[in-house]
Amino acid sequence: MSNYHIKHLEEYWQVYRKSVRNPENFWEEIAEEHFLWRKKWDKVLSWDFSKPEVKWFEGAQLNITENCIDRHLATRGDKTAILFEPNDPSEGAQHITYKELHERVSTMANVLKAQGVEKGDRVCIYLPMIPELAVALLACARIGAVHSVVFAGFSATALATRINDCDCKMVICSDGSYRGKKKIDLKSIVDEALESCPGVTTNLVVQRTGGEVTMKEGRDIWLQPLLDQADTVCKATVMDAEDSLFILYTSGSTGKPKGMVHTTGGYMVYTAYSFKNVFQYRENDVYWCTADIGWITGHSYIVYGPLCNGATTVMFEGVPSYPDYGRFWEIVEKHKITQFYTAPTAIRALAKENLDYVEKYDLSSLKVLGTVGEPINEEAWHWYNDHVGKKNSPIVDTWWQTETGGIMISPIPYSTPTIPTFATLPLPGIQPTLMDENAQEIKGNQVEGRLCIKFPWPSMARTIYGNHERYRDTYFSAYKGMYFTGDGARRDAVGYYRITGRVDDVIIVSGHNLGTAPIEDAINEHPAVAESAIVGFPHDIKGNALYGYITLKETGEGRDQDNLRKEINQLITDRIGPIAKLDKIQFTNGLPKTRSGKIMRRILRKIAGKDTGNLGDTSTLLNPEVVQDIMDNALV
Ligand code: PRX
Repeated sequence: MSNYHIKHLEEYWQVYRKSVRNPENFWEEIAEEHFLWRKKWDKVLSWDFSKPEVKWFEGAQLNITENCIDRHLATRGDKTAILFEPNDPSEGAQHITYKELHERVSTMANVLKAQGVEKGDRVCIYLPMIPELAVALLACARIGAVHSVVFAGFSATALATRINDCDCKMVICSDGSYRGKKKIDLKSIVDEALESCPGVTTNLVVQRTGGEVTMKEGRDIWLQPLLDQADTVCKATVMDAEDSLFILYTSGSTGKPKGMVHTTGGYMVYTAYSFKNVFQYRENDVYWCTADIGWITGHSYIVYGPLCNGATTVMFEGVPSYPDYGRFWEIVEKHKITQFYTAPTAIRALAKENLDYVEKYDLSSLKVLGTVGEPINEEAWHWYNDHVGKKNSPIVDTWWQTETGGIMISPIPYSTPTIPTFATLPLPGIQPTLMDENAQEIKGNQVEGRLCIKFPWPSMARTIYGNHERYRDTYFSAYKGMYFTGDGARRDAVGYYRITGRVDDVIIVSGHNLGTAPIEDAINEHPAVAESAIVGFPHDIKGNALYGYITLKETGEGRDQDNLRKEINQLITDRIGPIAKLDKIQFTNGLPKTRSGKIMRRILRKIAGKDTGNLGDTSTLLNPEVVQDIMDNALV
């Protein structure tokens, strides 16, 4: 029996039981047999969820890029590591071999060093899905700098907040990006952001679109000439297992975004292990995850997990609708993709289009299909299964989070029988449980509750950058001795988990986590707005869309409402990004509030979701009269 590669259900159960009975032993064996360490650990695990403090492989030393790149050179040097598929198919794909990746990462690492980046420094990366993005991550990791990737769809304000929160001294960006027919000027977004980031001394600029940019003397430097002059060999910096590898921001229900800190050793072991098993990766497979590296899915399952396994991983720059809705399937056929991992929102969008777009391509290379980011509805699951997988490729519905670093609950394809909309069973080492309203653990099956994790796993985030107290309060205070996920879940008769969705004020729109608070803050900046509340409502393609209830100040009352709606959405775009725009905006005379002044979102959510049959008790509200008024004027 191999602990590392599970091949059938019985084996899964054996491995799972072992991982729970003796987690230290289980992970130690995997770490020992499948990775390259410069020095072995003194202790596999120490933990205390009350602090909270978790350490894996303490005392061990390594560099993750030696595991992702160097150790493959002897056996897989000429194998494609990164297969880049550009936005415009006529530009042609690029195959970057492990040897070439080694050279590019080393050269980039030398540039970073020459620009004064040292171990522990934070570097913000704001790049489109081009090979330089993966190279930049790995170059940081090579020298022990901590990367903080910001999705290149975020606005200047959102970028600046993230740069300042973790004191980045350097930004790596590009002149622009291509997304379908659009060419986006990224450099001017960075310029605007950097006006409020005094700590950034260097901004390295990758040329992608050739668009016109202004380069600020003393700060902005074109990357290519620096690469041309740099040495192509760079010794990897030796890191402690618990040294930070990266920071990645995620939205909370309140306050500013949370910079989740991931460390090196445990993250590497877990992402590599989960990648191997969830995707059943084999040597000549060509694996494609369509996520952006700006999100955790891209970090763990485009870059680190696949490369640690010596895989060929595809990076796609474009969008599913360009040049037409067949683009994904054209790429699958062209590169003979074996594992395809995407988001339910993409599936729903493509399922709306003509079936010819799928049927005209040969998808017979596919062996495993994956989804991530939000619950997948039954209809989308069947479409994916019937038309993409031809009922031949198991679907892995993978549940996890930025905070968990790796996939937590997922079928093992060809082992775990799947059921539509069920993420099914925990991966080895993961101990989920459900809690009730009274903070009691719910035993048995066919139950529903709040999803918690009872025991540490190697890739969990260790803290929120600069705010450990918030880390404790958000994840470890609701249920004593447990990590609380913020999600609700059901456990069925055989113990399968089905994630039912967020139980807090985080709304998942098109697979993107959005906190209500920052959006409301942006809206409230509008001079005509007195107050606002955002809720999610079901949407065919996005899963959820945003519905805003907005009360105007007297000065705003006579104004043209459509114009106001446009201005408010523009503000949101400027402060956060277009992903956070509201689909519906209803102007109200007031918002329903409890006697302590808290907005009753539950009621607003029901109205937006056309679920007004049972609004619950509204008599205890401070202002029950506004509820009827809001219902009468609802945009549903
Ligand atoms: O609500 C869950 C949902 O996405 C949240 C995590 O979002 P984020 O940190 O952005 O990471 C997304 C990619 C890992 C979770 O709390 N979620 C993620 N995957 C699933 C899911 N909900 C249901 N089913 C899933 N497979």
